Amino acid sequence: MASQNNINFTLNGIAQNVGCRADTTVLEWLRTDKRLTGTKEGCAEGDCGACTILLSKQEDSGFSAVNSCILSMGQIAGCDVLTVEGLKSETYHPLQVAMAENGSSQCGFCTPGIVMSLAGLLAATSDPSEEQIHDALAGNLCRCTGYKPIVEAALKITKGGLVALPKTTSSMAGLDEVLDSHGTQFYRPKTLSHLFERRAANPSAILLGGGTDLGVALAEHESEWPEVIWTGAVQELRQVTESKDNWTFGAAVTWQEMLTKIGDAYPSLSTLIRRFGSTQIRNMGTIGGNIGTASPIGDGP
Ligand code: FES
Ligand code: FES
Repeated sequence: MASQNNINFTLNGIAQNVGCRADTTVLEWLRTDKRLTGTKEGCAEGDCGACTILLSKQEDSGFSAVNSCILSMGQIAGCDVLTVEGLKSETYHPLQVAMAENGSSQCGFCTPGIVMSLAGLLAATSDPSEEQIHDALAGNLCRCTGYKPIVEAALKITKGGLVALPKTTSSMAGLDEVLDSHGTQFYRPKTLSHLFERRAANPSAILLGGGTDLGVALAEHESEWPEVIWTGAVQELRQVTESKDNWTFGAAVTWQEMLTKIGDAYPSLSTLIRRFGSTQIRNMGTIGGNIGTASPIGDGP
C-alpha cells in the first residue's frame, strides 16, 4: 500500500510539507517548530480554548473551531489550518478591531482563542443570535475581562453579516492510506473493509476517532502513539443517511455535525448535545469515539 512520509496541509493559505512525528500536537508544532506563538497554551486538555484554531477538512465544509492542544499532526493532513496570525490580512480582522475598541481584552491571553472561535461562528452564520455567540464561546475561558464586553464586540460585528475567511482547498481524497512519519505509523483507511484489514494486521495500534479524550494524554506528554488507526477517513463511518423515520449517523460523524443535521427537529436532543464539551470539542469528538473510549465522563454514553 502506498505511503507518505511527510504531512501535507495548508497553514494560513501557504502549502506545508512537514516531517515530524504524527503524534506531535498541532499546538506544539505551531509554537515550537513554526514559532507562531499567537495560539496559546492554557490547560492543554481541551477546556480553556486558548489554543483555538480553525480547521477545514473538506473543500466545501468551511472552517470550524478546534482545540489545537489535543489535535495530532496526523489528523490535519490534507486540511486547511488557519491561526490567529492568518486571520489578519493587510489590516486587523474586524473582530480584532471590535475587541480592541470595546475593551474586550485585558491581559490578552485568552483573546486569540476567543477571536478564532468567533471568526469560526461568523464565517458560518450570518447574523448569529446572542445565544449562538454564547454557544460559540462556551469553550473559551476568560479570567480577567468578563464575557459581557466580548459578547458586545461580537454583536457589533454581526450587524455587518458574514465575515469572509480565506478560501479553502482542503481534500483528504488524495492522501495515501499510510502515513509513515518519523517513527510513527498513522494509518487512515478509507473504507470499512480496509479498516478491518488494518485492525487485524495491527491489533495493538491505537484506534483514534476525534482524539478529544486520547489527545489529553498526548498533550500532557503522558503517552506516545507509535501506531494509530484513524477512523476519520473511513467513508462508511462518515455517512449520515436519512429515511422517512430515521437518521443513521456513522461512528466517525462528529457531535457538531449531528447537531447541525438534527437542527430544530428534536429540540430536547439538540439542547442536550449543546451541553457536550464546547463547540471546539463537538467539532472534533465523534459519536463512535465517545462510546469506544469508554470514559466514565463521556457525554454520549
Ligand atoms: Fe486549553 Fe487547548 S490549551 S483548550
Ligand atoms: Fe485575560 Fe481574558 S483577557 S484571560
